[in-house]
Amino acid sequence: MKDTKLLTSSIDDIKMAADIIKLGGTVIFPTETVYGLGANALDADAVNQIFVAKGRPSDNPLIVHIDSFDKIDKYVIRITDNAKQLAEAYWPGPMTLVLEKKDIIPNITSAGLNTVGIRVPSNEIARGLIEFSGVPIAAPSANISGSPSPTTVSHVIKDMYGKVDAIIAGNDCDVGVESTVIDVTGNIPIILRPGGITPEMIKKVCKEVIIDKGVDGITDDSKPKSPGMKYKHYSPNCEIILIEYNKKEDIEDKIIQKATEQEDKKTVILATLQTEDKYIGFNTICMGDRNKPETIAHSLFDVFRKCDESGYEVAIMEGIEEIGIGIAIMNRARRAAR
Ligand code: TXA
Ligand code: MG
Repeated sequence: MKDTKLLTSSIDDIKMAADIIKLGGTVIFPTETVYGLGANALDADAVNQIFVAKGRPSDNPLIVHIDSFDKIDKYVIRITDNAKQLAEAYWPGPMTLVLEKKDIIPNITSAGLNTVGIRVPSNEIARGLIEFSGVPIAAPSANISGSPSPTTVSHVIKDMYGKVDAIIAGNDCDVGVESTVIDVTGNIPIILRPGGITPEMIKKVCKEVIIDKGVDGITDDSKPKSPGMKYKHYSPNCEIILIEYNKKEDIEDKIIQKATEQEDKKTVILATLQTEDKYIGFNTICMGDRNKPETIAHSLFDVFRKCDESGYEVAIMEGIEEIGIGIAIMNRARRAAR
């Protein structure tokens, strides 16, 4: 067990956390997407501690966080036009760009791939930590491997207290789902994981965009383009049953039918502001507003965790329309429901 320091977001505390990073330790910090579990990306021993703390498979690469686009050429061989255009438009922000890596990035960080995912976060605490550390920070989501990503400091404490050197407490994460991971090594950007930066936004700057067929994890490919695709992910212990959205019909009847089928299992319906009142006699948790999918993204992982905290065995989740951040929400939901 480690003696985990609980830090605030004061400048002094962020500097203390930066010292821990410099000395090869691990620090959990908030970002605009989810909390990250960070270590010096250039120090193989430090990075190894991340894999140990999370119980993460060693073939799943980490995202490297830097504080400005100007520094990217220290870590990647070639900055493609796509990368440049996307970085100018959406960094700092919830977007990770995958490019060919330089040798300075140890193999453990990139899990043996010849590429590395780089992100410039917008959260001020994350930015301060990177700046004061003076090194790039490798950071996956700060959850135990396979479980929902943490979006509040209480999620982090529950999963990681005693496993890391320090935790910086910040506000709840804004976006609530992880960054969009985009392979920009070629002529057309390829989305490897949908997130806060949507395909529509990418198209505005790059004209074309491909969503990789493996994103929802439903592929027989044992060597997917992004190793994370092949792992069961984001799921609480409670079984998630997802009812897909269909423009042409109301979702409520299908949800009630599925919930009724559960008989003696302790069941909850993951509803929305628009439908919550319609499930009379059933347990419900409201995920957010259908007309503002960003509210659902913001609370999704917290809702998944609440299912476990309340001891539910089954959660019947309403699907939502796959536009904008709805694509990322449905991606996480499908992967949790597998
Ligand atoms: O929003 C985020 O991205 C958060 C915060 C902390 O920045 N981080 C995060 O990291 O979600 P993680 O490790 O939980 O997810 C990273 C995903 C994994 O699915 C991994 O396989 C993929 O990105 N990935 C990382 N490097 C890659 C690479 N070089 N090529 C393809 N996929 C990569
Ligand atoms: Mg993760």
